[in-house]
Amino acid sequence: MSSTVLKPGGLRLAAGALGLVLTGSAVASDAKKVAYGRHLSGECSACHRVDGTDNGIPSITGWEPEDFVHTLAFYRNGERNNPAMVSVAQSLDDDQMKALAAYYGSLPKAARSKKK
Ligand code: HEC
Repeated sequence: MSSTVLKPGGLRLAAGALGLVLTGSAVASDAKKVAYGRHLSGECSACHRVDGTDNGIPSITGWEPEDFVHTLAFYRNGERNNPAMVSVAQSLDDDQMKALAAYYGSLPKAARSKKK
């Protein structure tokens, strides 16, 4: 029976390994978020260009991720009412918005558009 009890040394080792995994994951999760965002962005790039040019539809590259998420939330809660974006935003959950924000935020900002 007593042989199933974990020795203290074994526990410490396990905790140490867990600590390593957790520290590494802060960086890894950013890369994962960007990759997930890139995957999700297929839905967006039908309208928004990834090179950042404004083709009549605003550029969404190079934004602060926080602004990006807030803007999407405005569409989701109806504060902004563009029908295309409202339906897009309502199909996204918070994690997906954050992933898209990380991905688009990692892309270079649009070169200044000439018009305007
Ligand atoms: C059917 C076309 C279409 C699709 C698909 C689409 N968008 Fe949009 N998006 C627009 C239009 C049009 C606007 C400008 C709406 C407005 O004036 O409020 C816009 C605006 C935005 C804005 C705000 C831009 C600004 O300058 O205020 C963000 C952020 C955005 N879209 C993100 C996304 C993301 C992320 C996706 C994919 C999940 C997506 N859009 C998919 C058409 C689209």
